[in-house]
Amino acid sequence: MVGAVCPVRVAALMWWRHAYRWMYRTGRTPWDTGVTPPEVVELIEGPAALVPGRTLDLGCGTGTNVRYLAEHGWEATGVDAVPAAIDRATAKLGGVANARVVLGDVTEIERLGLAGPFDLVLDIGCFHSMERRRRPAYVAGVVSLTRPGALLFIFAFARRGALRPLGVTSSEMATGFAPWFEPVGRIRGTSPPGAAWYLLRRASATPSDPQAESRPGSRGATHPPSPAASSSHDSGPHDPGA
Ligand SMILES: C[S@@+](CC[C@H](N)C(=O)[O-])C[C@H]1O[C@@H](n2cnc3c(N)ncnc32)[C@H](O)[C@@H]1O
Repeated sequence: MVGAVCPVRVAALMWWRHAYRWMYRTGRTPWDTGVTPPEVVELIEGPAALVPGRTLDLGCGTGTNVRYLAEHGWEATGVDAVPAAIDRATAKLGGVANARVVLGDVTEIERLGLAGPFDLVLDIGCFHSMERRRRPAYVAGVVSLTRPGALLFIFAFARRGALRPLGVTSSEMATGFAPWFEPVGRIRGTSPPGAAWYLLRRASATPSDPQAESRPGSRGATHPPSPAASSSHDSGPHDPGA
């Protein structure tokens, strides 16, 4: 359809925008296991464990990983757009020091009053479900809130077909974050097929980058988790057309 808005496409985008609210309302949240994925545990506690600093969990859901990170010495902030998820996360974080969650859209993150810079950004199943036209705003927000050398760790499904809205390709993960982030590791997932963990590192400061290299260093920055590792983490809405 040229020169007109395809109603099927508009309906699809609107459906995805509201899908997560519906899933939390109806309890259809298969990703919400209450368990931190082993790939994250490896990054935080493994042989090349990162030095704790400030971390941001984008699309934090009910806060399982915000809590885990805070309990492992990080100053942890989670962001999610669904009030029901934030309510559950707030309850889960009761009594945990250095942990908080914020209601908001990760493609408008500069509006949320978060004080950067962050040393580690985690995204388990959020970026991959975002409409592609909104992804540059997500990238800009992450860039604005991270220091040079910071790590970005994203779990994403593979896109199954050029016209499907969900998922990512490896090349998109490399080019979509360039030149601010460079890929430094990829861990194959097992469920669903093609899913993967992407580790990217923030490049050095640019003229538009006000952040200095003053945050705690990340000892493991050049040592991503073992590429041999795999994940069966079930994260994100399943493509209904798959
Ligand atoms: C598959 S769930 C994963 C939740 C959590 N990361 C976990 O592993 O349990 C994806 C989460 O991203 C959130 N999300 C999706 N798009 C978002 C957006 N634009 N802004 C903020 N949160 C978003 C959803 O509400 C949902 O909680």
